[in-house]
Amino acid sequence: MEALIHSHAMGNVVRSGLRQKQKSLPSWLFYDEVGSILFERITTLPEYYLTRMERMLLCRYASAILDHVDRGRSLTVLELGAGSARKTALLLRAALADKRDVSYQPIDISAQSLEDAALHLAEELPALRVQPVLRDFSETPHPASVRLHDDARGQQMLLWLGSSAGNYEQQEAVRILTAAAAGMEKGDHLLIGLDMAPRADGKRTHHLLEAYNDAAGVTAEFNRNLLVRLNRELGAKFRPKQFEHSAHWNAAASRMEMHLVSTVAQSVRIEALEESFFFQRGEFIHTENSHKYTRENGHALLCAAGFPVVAEWHDPDVWYGLFLGERS
Ligand SMILES: C[S@@+](CC[C@H](N)C(=O)[O-])C[C@H]1O[C@@H](n2cnc3c(N)ncnc32)[C@H](O)[C@@H]1O
Repeated sequence: MEALIHSHAMGNVVRSGLRQKQKSLPSWLFYDEVGSILFERITTLPEYYLTRMERMLLCRYASAILDHVDRGRSLTVLELGAGSARKTALLLRAALADKRDVSYQPIDISAQSLEDAALHLAEELPALRVQPVLRDFSETPHPASVRLHDDARGQQMLLWLGSSAGNYEQQEAVRILTAAAAGMEKGDHLLIGLDMAPRADGKRTHHLLEAYNDAAGVTAEFNRNLLVRLNRELGAKFRPKQFEHSAHWNAAASRMEMHLVSTVAQSVRIEALEESFFFQRGEFIHTENSHKYTRENGHALLCAAGFPVVAEWHDPDVWYGLFLGERS
């Protein structure tokens, strides 16, 4: 099923990405089966504070988040890029503990992640109704705009956790959220997890550099796995060892960028595209952006998506934030 979804899109996306003057590939390409497993490993690395902090916030504030949702009505939780949904289980468990009728719709491009999520949720939270959706959430029309309970509509909460909104320019993130929330009504909620920008008196740039350049080299493997995937699925002839992982801070754009840098001058054939792409030594493919937010920018993002912020939670040093917006 995964192959079917990607086969058409992938060739076009790779062709146009590698034909650009500044070569780039979209970050959803990371998440094949191996990439999804590698991402789970990244979330357990000591340097990768993002997952740890978000889990801590969800653990501590799940019931405060749910205080904003009417307890008397059923709740449908939709999640963009749910991944393994291990952190989300904390919120879902708290919602079920309120004796609510709770449905969960994880939306992800990775079949591996959705299977993982469905399996552990069935075991941990048997009362939860889970309806996984395998698809690209950046495409419209969006599945999350389909109402699950037209007869007796409960409340809806849209989640975008793991700092994944940061993979997009703000305008694009707003476009994705607007499409995803098309079926949502006044009083419904949006919960977003954002990684906060470095500041002179708190998180520093070196903490970010460490998080994306871990000592064990798992992020480097995750980045290079994209080339392994193109070799397998598009008959590309990349030699992944001839591309170096690089992650650096782009202060002007307030984001971490990941690149794959060609260590030699080389030409790479991609059979499925019947095309070869030339790389100068030092030339790179831009593979990911991770935008870091100020509190003001976080508010602006949710507001532009039609969900003004009604509450936010941070760790004491404001490295990470959960922002809750309500449909106005
Ligand atoms: C950074 S991971 C975050 C996973 C999880 N939400 C967490 O917080 O740990 C991004 C997730 O979004 C999924 N994803 C990325 N781009 C996507 C897209 N365009 N459509 C659907 N899912 C996507 C990936 O497969 C992956 O599971």
